[in-house]
Amino acid sequence: MGQYSNSAFNNFIHDMQMHFSLGLPEVEHWEGVRPLLSRLISDNEFRNVSRSWERKKGREYILHHDPEYDFFVGALVREPKHVAMAHDHGPTWTIYGVLDGDEVTQIFERLDDGSQPGYAKLRLKVRSEAPMGTVDVVPPHIPHAENGNSPRSVAITVRTTKPGSYDQIMFDLETGKTGISRGLDLVPLKI
Ligand SMILES: [Fe+2]
Repeated sequence: MGQYSNSAFNNFIHDMQMHFSLGLPEVEHWEGVRPLLSRLISDNEFRNVSRSWERKKGREYILHHDPEYDFFVGALVREPKHVAMAHDHGPTWTIYGVLDGDEVTQIFERLDDGSQPGYAKLRLKVRSEAPMGTVDVVPPHIPHAENGNSPRSVAITVRTTKPGSYDQIMFDLETGKTGISRGLDLVPLKI
């Protein structure tokens, strides 16, 4: 028995802690989270549990914040036609898995040299369908957007640490203006 009532989630946290204990080099380490998250989001019972989670824009549920390794596991429940502003996750890594519904992921490349404060010129680099079961690895400082593509979608996020403690850049694609965000409203959720 672990600390959560859902066995797939318990197994996931156990596997994550084992993985973190290996202390692998950075890229290998975060790529190694992909198959673990992939297994979690393929669990039908866990998906069924997620169908009771309230859908709310601007909210991220806290599922787990690891006391030893500091990694954070969250959940985002997307509204119909959810459109995210392009943004980055600052210095943190994010492993992003679609548990339910369909999403579309956009990745941008930065065309300017970053020398003008409050300004960035971005160009869409990749647009990929992200149906249920998709896992994306988002390295630090990469501008991207995760958009809904179904009436409701649920994503599980695995992050270096709890959001709110680091700056994220928000990009206005029309004007080139940038702003700083400290992430979404964090709401604990018992699972
Ligand atoms: Fe993101």
